[in-house]
Amino acid sequence: MLDWTEVEEDKPARFVLTPPSVKEEADSTGLGKIARGAARVRVDDKAMINCRADVNQLLPLKYRWAWEKYLSGCNNHWMPTEVSMQADIALWKSAEGLTAEERRVIKRNLGFFAASESLVANNIVLAIYRHLTNPECRQYLLRQAFEEAVHTHTFQYIVESLGLDEGELFNMYREVPSITEKAAWALEYTQNLSDPSFQTGTRAADQAFLRDLVAFYVVFEGVWFYTGFAQILSLGRRNKMVGVAEQYQYILRDESIHLNFGVDVINQIKIENPHLWSHEFQQEVRQMLRSAAELEAAYGRDTMPNGFLGLSAGLCEQYMHFIANRRCAQLGLEPVFALTENPFPWMSEAMDLKKEKNFFETRVIEYQNGGSLTWE
Ligand SMILES: [Fe+2]
Ligand SMILES: [Fe+2]
Repeated sequence: MLDWTEVEEDKPARFVLTPPSVKEEADSTGLGKIARGAARVRVDDKAMINCRADVNQLLPLKYRWAWEKYLSGCNNHWMPTEVSMQADIALWKSAEGLTAEERRVIKRNLGFFAASESLVANNIVLAIYRHLTNPECRQYLLRQAFEEAVHTHTFQYIVESLGLDEGELFNMYREVPSITEKAAWALEYTQNLSDPSFQTGTRAADQAFLRDLVAFYVVFEGVWFYTGFAQILSLGRRNKMVGVAEQYQYILRDESIHLNFGVDVINQIKIENPHLWSHEFQQEVRQMLRSAAELEAAYGRDTMPNGFLGLSAGLCEQYMHFIANRRCAQLGLEPVFALTENPFPWMSEAMDLKKEKNFFETRVIEYQNGGSLTWE
């Protein structure tokens, strides 16, 4: 994590201006012509965006927090197929196992996540990676991209195990308006970057890049996913769909690192480019969080019109306000909603897998210790 005690907010930007001659030679892809015999990379040459140091040289590390998140991601390795689905299959297939309301929530939830994991992955690979000009951050992005693939795999495995309609689930983001609205909101930010000629380096372009980071890391992964986690984990707490709930716990553990990485990236870009984080821009980001929480409240009303296992659209809206204010604080912004209590305090416990090890009474692998290879 960043140590904010040492941050000097009004320190002049070191990487704002790059002389045109150097800029022309800078290769942000890492795939350009080799600068034969060029000087070795120094820590101070490295920067989050618009960097002219060679992006193929991981060492010397500048952003240890990025490297540590890469290591944490590797330590958390898991695969959905390691989780038994037997109890879920029996419950799903029994006529009285679940109410119609519960089935509706489960299907919409799975439908939202199935497409969202793909949208997040495509944004990392096709929009973020190219413009984040730091090798330790790229190392983390490569790990994160794999984790998003594991998450997509989870939804394939759930659909296959429960015998769900593939098309219904994966196409839901184009059929259910409350899901479509959220995806469309986020896609606008990545579409701004999708022009192949888009380059960072101007104030407008760098701010467009920051907006994309906010939309995907802070809103998508850091706000919207949390209602989804609350819905499924609340089923698990009642011993229903325990396999899916266990998989969601693993996804939640991954996503909390994704979110924290995104927050650190945004905050580091702010430190290096304070001119981008103007008062006006801060208000814009706050407005993004406000509208994201409103879209989520509409999704809550749509998926849980009659309440669900102690959750209700009203409590989910309160939870969104709590989460949105927390994300504002993480970005150094004023809260966007009136301060409120967390209506689901058990969600923070669910994030600590070690504490919850026997929670669902299913098999939980202690990934932190890793597994030993056998050569039979
Ligand atoms: Fe994910
Ligand atoms: Fe993620």
